[in-house]
Amino acid sequence: RKVLVLNGPNLGRLGRRQPEIYGHTTHEQLAELCRTWGTGFDLDVELRQTNHEGELLDWLNAAADDETPVVLNAAAWTHYSWAIFDACAQLTAPLVEVHISDPSQRPETFRHTSVVTEHAVAVVAGMGIDGYRRALEIIAGTPGS
Ligand code: DQA
Repeated sequence: RKVLVLNGPNLGRLGRRQPEIYGHTTHEQLAELCRTWGTGFDLDVELRQTNHEGELLDWLNAAADDETPVVLNAAAWTHYSWAIFDACAQLTAPLVEVHISDPSQRPETFRHTSVVTEHAVAVVAGMGIDGYRRALEIIAGTPGS
C-alpha cells in the first residue's frame, strides 16, 4: 500500500537546521529511513519536501483523489494555514500528523495550535526522527490505509 510522507517548509535543511532541536539526520537520510521502515510495515513510502505551500496543497489534493494515506509534517504551516486545514479535511484515507519536536512544549505560543490535528487519526510529536517510524506503524495498523 502506498503512503505519502509530506514535509513542509524548512525541513529540507534537516541535519543542518537547529540540530539541538531537530537532530543531525539529513532529509535524504530520513527519506531512506522511511522507505526502509515502510518496507517493514509492508508500505510503499514516498517522501517529499517543499517550501511552497501551493505545492503541498497540490500533493494533498492528489492524495484526496487517490485515497492515499498521508504522514504530514506541515512544519510552520501547521500553526496558521487554513488552506492546509481545508486540504486535510478532504482526505479520506488515514492522516497522521508528525512533529520532530513537541510544539506544545516549546516557548513560542504560536506553535501551540495545529490546523492538522482535527483531521488526523493520531499526532506523533517530540520523538525526533523516530516519530516518522511510529507514524508509519500507525498507518499500517489503521483500517482504511
Ligand atoms: C516542526 C515544529 C514546527 O513548530 C516548526 O515550525 C517546524 C518543525 C517539527 O517537526 O518539530 O518547522 O513541525
